[in-house]
Amino acid sequence: MAMERFSSLLPIVLVFLCLLRTDAGDQPLSKIAIHRATVGIDGSAHVRASPMVLGLKGEDIEWVIVEVRSSNPTADDWVGVFSPAKFNSSTCPADIDDPGAQSPYICSAPIKFQIANYSSPDYTKTGKSSLKLQLINQRADFSFALFSGGFMNPKLVAVSNVISFANPKAPLYPRLAQGKSWDEMTITWTSGYSILEAIPFVEWGLKGWPQTRSPAGTLTFTRNSMCGPPARTVGWRDPGFIHTSFLKDLWPNSEYTYKLGHRLFNGSYVWSKLYSFKASPYPGQDSLQRVIIFGDMGKAERDGSNEYSDYQPGSLNTTDQLVKDLENIDIVFHIGDITYANGYISQWDQFTSQVEPIASAVPYMIGSGNHERDWPGTGSFYNTTDSQGECGVLAETMFYVPAENRAKFWYSTDYGMFRFCIADTEHDWREGSEQYKFIERCFASVDRQKQPWLIFAAHRVLGYSSSFYYAAEGSFAEPMGRESLQKLWQRYKVDIAIYGHVHNYERTCPIYQNQCVSKEKSHYSGTVNGTIHIVAGGGGSHLSNFTDVKTDWSIYRDMDFGFVKLTAFNHSSLLFEYKKSSDGNVHDSFTISRDYRDVLACIHDGCEPTTSAT
Ligand SMILES: *[C@@H]1O[C@H](CO)[C@@H](O)[C@H](O)[C@H]1NC(C)=O
Ligand SMILES: *[C@@H]1O[C@H](CO)[C@@H](O)[C@H](O)[C@H]1NC(C)=O
Ligand SMILES: *[C@@H]1O[C@H](CO)[C@@H](O)[C@H](O)[C@H]1NC(C)=O
Ligand SMILES: *[C@@H]1O[C@H](CO)[C@@H](O)[C@H](O)[C@H]1NC(C)=O
Ligand SMILES: *[C@@H]1O[C@H](CO)[C@@H](O)[C@H](O)[C@H]1NC(C)=O
Ligand SMILES: *[C@@H]1O[C@H](CO)[C@@H](O)[C@H](O)[C@H]1NC(C)=O
Ligand SMILES: *[C@@H]1O[C@H](CO)[C@@H](O)[C@H](O)[C@H]1NC(C)=O
Ligand SMILES: *[C@@H]1O[C@H](CO)[C@@H](O)[C@H](O)[C@H]1NC(C)=O
Ligand SMILES: [Fe+2]
Repeated sequence: MAMERFSSLLPIVLVFLCLLRTDAGDQPLSKIAIHRATVGIDGSAHVRASPMVLGLKGEDIEWVIVEVRSSNPTADDWVGVFSPAKFNSSTCPADIDDPGAQSPYICSAPIKFQIANYSSPDYTKTGKSSLKLQLINQRADFSFALFSGGFMNPKLVAVSNVISFANPKAPLYPRLAQGKSWDEMTITWTSGYSILEAIPFVEWGLKGWPQTRSPAGTLTFTRNSMCGPPARTVGWRDPGFIHTSFLKDLWPNSEYTYKLGHRLFNGSYVWSKLYSFKASPYPGQDSLQRVIIFGDMGKAERDGSNEYSDYQPGSLNTTDQLVKDLENIDIVFHIGDITYANGYISQWDQFTSQVEPIASAVPYMIGSGNHERDWPGTGSFYNTTDSQGECGVLAETMFYVPAENRAKFWYSTDYGMFRFCIADTEHDWREGSEQYKFIERCFASVDRQKQPWLIFAAHRVLGYSSSFYYAAEGSFAEPMGRESLQKLWQRYKVDIAIYGHVHNYERTCPIYQNQCVSKEKSHYSGTVNGTIHIVAGGGGSHLSNFTDVKTDWSIYRDMDFGFVKLTAFNHSSLLFEYKKSSDGNVHDSFTISRDYRDVLACIHDGCEPTTSAT
């Protein structure tokens, strides 16, 4: 009877949870109850990994073969990859404040896993399996462990030999970001060298010219900087050292080459590969400028580990399309929900490795999302556990953004004829807040004759979305989004506002006071009299569906993976395109053509932006 009542309530509870959750789907590593692991070493089973040494030619990604033999194979046997290789109780921290979440035997989650029968379907009959796994250099050695008992009751059966990269501490995964001024590029990378072992720097200069050296700062953080589990418990992994160098006084549009370096105290040097980038245009410069924007990409494993197709199924397609078209991209904005590491720190290295071809060549500007920041009682605007204990620390440290305070993720950045105002939806944006003042200053301080294209971007939808869950709440956006910001978008004539969080694509008409101001769908021209709102959250995480409710502001919807591209041809012509990640083709687009006087034109409630004083 009680059971029956419960099961009749269950659907209601589930619907309620679905409404609250913007992303179903759990970090696959969280499905392993590693803290419940027991030991049952079986002398007749073994795991062997090869080759022993990886990266002999300086590679940072390598494939390894893992051979498994078991005399008692079962369908739910799985292999966990551990790094550092030594993962038993001897490595458990003594001073952890949450012993319940720590195991008696294994205190750290694997960095990846695969079902033992993954590429050997007859494993349960033969007891033989051969797995092909991709490893990246993550500053520590690796071992491979066979478990029985599935993910919920793992029992350790056998552990492999230890394998390692030739130089586990190598400087890796450079990511560019615009500095605080237009002529400064920042380069952030990760290494295993502390400031006590080596001096980090970048050797750089105009391509083909003598190179100079600039120093880099070094940051790291400890388990105690995490706000809760699993980041503070089984998901914790030493992040190594994160270095940032500031390359200043760049010549606009010029090609630069750079190399990451560490000078060891015995006088020898450790170098990265050679990379290059093009310096940003002078603000207001008339030239072709191409911008990519998307949210919610996450990561995935090319070897099929971690049930990759269930978590961020579009991630690799998006990454691959951007890499393929890199010659036609000048700057990228990933507006929140970056890695979905969700407290499993190892995944940040894997994300920076995945985006390296992009981030090492063009500025990779990030925004903060719920999966980076939210944790109850830590000042996040939403009191959810979506960051799984990271509470912003990883995002703030692994990537540079030109914010005044990197813990508050709002910033402005100029790219030629564009001004970008990037907001942080995980902190209060309402009128009177510190962030509201920033947003107004960002809008108000741009000279539209020089930089006509004014773009607002934020993670959660503050404008308009027909996503099923927003529609079900009747708001078509986050509560207090439009109420607080619409007057700023209007007063300062923001061209386009772009959001993630909802995993699909949607475009609105130009909107003023909640109304479409134009019936035109593809060629906007003349006065700027409304803001076009875009949802571009289909970077990779599993898709969000739309409501059946029809609204007159929604003019294009696509429930698929994709990203958007803005191309400024000059001061009077902008092209907007939505591309699918599966084929790289344009599936929706519009243009804006206008002159400076169309921005100045006195429409609606007034002329040139005035102060809010009346
Ligand atoms: C942990 O593993 C090491 C080898 O990696 C071994 O020497 C040690 O005995 C193990 N400790 C326990 C408690 O199993
Ligand atoms: C491996 O075993 C699982 C059951 O745990 C099964 O669902 C899956 O189909 C098997 N995979 C292969 C490749 O046989
Ligand atoms: C300096 O130390 C590194 C790391 O210990 C070593 O590989 C290198 O050979 C040393 N170089 C010299 C010149 O001694
Ligand atoms: C989060 O919690 C704080 C403190 O309890 C509360 O003031 C605030 O309204 C909550 N935020 C949201 C978005 O519910
Ligand atoms: C807004 O601009 C469009 C052209 O983009 C024009 O067709 C429309 O009449 C304008 N509406 C108002 C209210 O100014
Ligand atoms: C969207 O998904 C929700 C739950 O995931 C489901 O209840 C709803 O019927 C779906 N809506 C449409 C229009 O497919
Ligand atoms: C701006 O670029 C567009 C598209 O390439 C072109 O048609 C137009 O003539 C250009 N306008 C000016 C003023 O250069
Ligand atoms: C990724 O791209 C391939 C090739 O276009 C396509 O077949 C596949 O469906 C895409 N995957 C997803 C999840 O969209
Ligand atoms: Fe999100």
